[in-house]
Amino acid sequence: MAARSENKLNRIQNEIESDGGRVVAVPTDITGRNACKTLVDKTVATFGGVDGIILNAGVSMWANFEDISDPSFFQKLMDVNYMGAVNCVHASLPVLKKSKGVIVSVTTAQALMGFPAHAGYAASKHALRGFTETLEIESDGKVKFMDAYLGWIKGTDLRANAFGADGEKLGASKHTHGNHAIELDDCVNGIIKGMAAGKRRVYTPGKLRMIPFLNVFARSWLQRKVSKAVKDHNK
Ligand SMILES: NC(=O)c1ccc[n+]([C@@H]2O[C@H](COP(=O)([O-])OP(=O)(O)OC[C@H]3O[C@@H](n4cnc5c(N)ncnc54)[C@H](OP(=O)(O)O)[C@@H]3O)[C@@H](O)[C@H]2O)c1
Repeated sequence: MAARSENKLNRIQNEIESDGGRVVAVPTDITGRNACKTLVDKTVATFGGVDGIILNAGVSMWANFEDISDPSFFQKLMDVNYMGAVNCVHASLPVLKKSKGVIVSVTTAQALMGFPAHAGYAASKHALRGFTETLEIESDGKVKFMDAYLGWIKGTDLRANAFGADGEKLGASKHTHGNHAIELDDCVNGIIKGMAAGKRRVYTPGKLRMIPFLNVFARSWLQRKVSKAVKDHNK
């Protein structure tokens, strides 16, 4: 288990251990290659191997491109959402091949299409998908892959930590999730069930599986639909 915040890791470690689980918690900034290597080494030293990695760490944005004063925070989105994943996979691939393990990408509908107010985020998640789909071919079945495509989730910090037009975190803002957002437990359960069933892709909510088809056969309708969803949030 990894994140930068040691306090958060300690709290979750205590929860897992008091439920009888075993965990190794390593404070890690995944934008550093050596930090990811240390994370994998400590995991192998504790458990003897790695059955799977979940590429969950992520950061988002909320601003139309033309409103952005300085787009250099796009680099930060790529550093975490894409290069962070590359670093974790690079460090763990040799041990994952030994265990025929799984690489899970926690991703978004925005990896499947463009999405207003999220150009840099969508680009970073497209990059992640291109990366893992290429590795899937290169690894020739020696490692498994699963993508979890998620809609807006209630109760996480993604929105508060997202970059706004000024390049600062949005913090508590009007861009809160409405009732249509999905429960965190539903996402997590979907990912766990998908992994247990050896699925290549899971979609939460299930309607997201239509996006690749709609993006080809009803592209204008789909684009109007997501524009309206973003406009409704901006009201
Ligand atoms: N929330 C949604 O509506 C939604 C929708 C679709 C997909 N997703 C995806 O779900 C994943 C989880 O997001 P979330 O909603 O749970 O957001 P979150 O509450 O902000 O969690 C993000 C996690 O990433 C960690 N992290 C960020 N930068 C890191 C770094 N450089 N190194 C290591 N860890 C880092 C954070 O821990 P520290 O800050 O302690 O490092 C935190 O645990 C993301 O990949 C996101 O794109 C979320």
